[in-house]
Amino acid sequence: MNNNKLKNEIAEYWNQRIHDLEIAKSPVGSREFFEELSEYRFDKLRYLPKIVDFAGFKGKKILEIGCGAGIDLVEFGAGGAIVTGIDLSKTAIDLAKKYFSYLNINADLQVMDGENMSFEDNTFDVVYAHGVLQYTADAKKMIEEAFRVLKPGGIFIGMVYNRKGWLNFMARVFKVSLEHQDAPVLDKYTIEEFRELLSPFKNVKIVPERFPVKSRLHHGLKGILFNTFFVGIFKLIPRPLVKKWGWHLMGFGEK
Ligand SMILES: C[S@@+](CC[C@H](N)C(=O)[O-])C[C@H]1O[C@@H](n2cnc3c(N)ncnc32)[C@H](O)[C@@H]1O
Repeated sequence: MNNNKLKNEIAEYWNQRIHDLEIAKSPVGSREFFEELSEYRFDKLRYLPKIVDFAGFKGKKILEIGCGAGIDLVEFGAGGAIVTGIDLSKTAIDLAKKYFSYLNINADLQVMDGENMSFEDNTFDVVYAHGVLQYTADAKKMIEEAFRVLKPGGIFIGMVYNRKGWLNFMARVFKVSLEHQDAPVLDKYTIEEFRELLSPFKNVKIVPERFPVKSRLHHGLKGILFNTFFVGIFKLIPRPLVKKWGWHLMGFGEK
């Protein structure tokens, strides 16, 4: 498919959907709505604040590509970073603007394509893209752009889904649906493929994360089996044995 047509489809898809919306009870865009999304996200992704020091970039210029409703970007901003967030989706950017204004944190938030950014070369200290490369039309182009706008010595932090991860296995064997399975693009990577994608960077480190935690979304027999047996048994296995099956591959690289 032609890249522009696909990009329009991706923007349209994400204009209609808000990541993790199904968990929120409060009206979309209310202060409580963002609090619910944030609480859910950092409960589900317990690893994230342990591996990304959101408060450790005071005075640094951070760009988030595909910032969605701004749930992670706010954390960088609250820690004193100078934050910029872009997303293909106007719905996402409008929500992120509301979230930042509730918290009285400044941010430059724009609808922009992460594969074709208007920022000058060597602008940012950190480029962050969590759960975005796998949903874009040309991930290699997004990485080239991230590299271009990073300052020399700047850090890229990204997350993609692990093709050999436990959740992909569940999806295939037990027909568990993956998040945004119906998105116009949903790619998965092996550790080697992700390393190859990050090859413009030096000192690349890939850390598999996101192991099973109790699901708040699955109910009935499926929910009971997953929450009781699967999560319970998985927890008993020593982490080094299952490490490579983490569903999220966190990638770090330096320009
Ligand atoms: C699964 S959501 C993740 C949102 C947020 N990063 C999070 O983790 O909650 C994927 C986001 O990537 C955005 N996206 C996809 N392709 C993009 C592109 N080429 N440029 C900018 N944003 C893009 C989508 O609009 C969507 O908001």
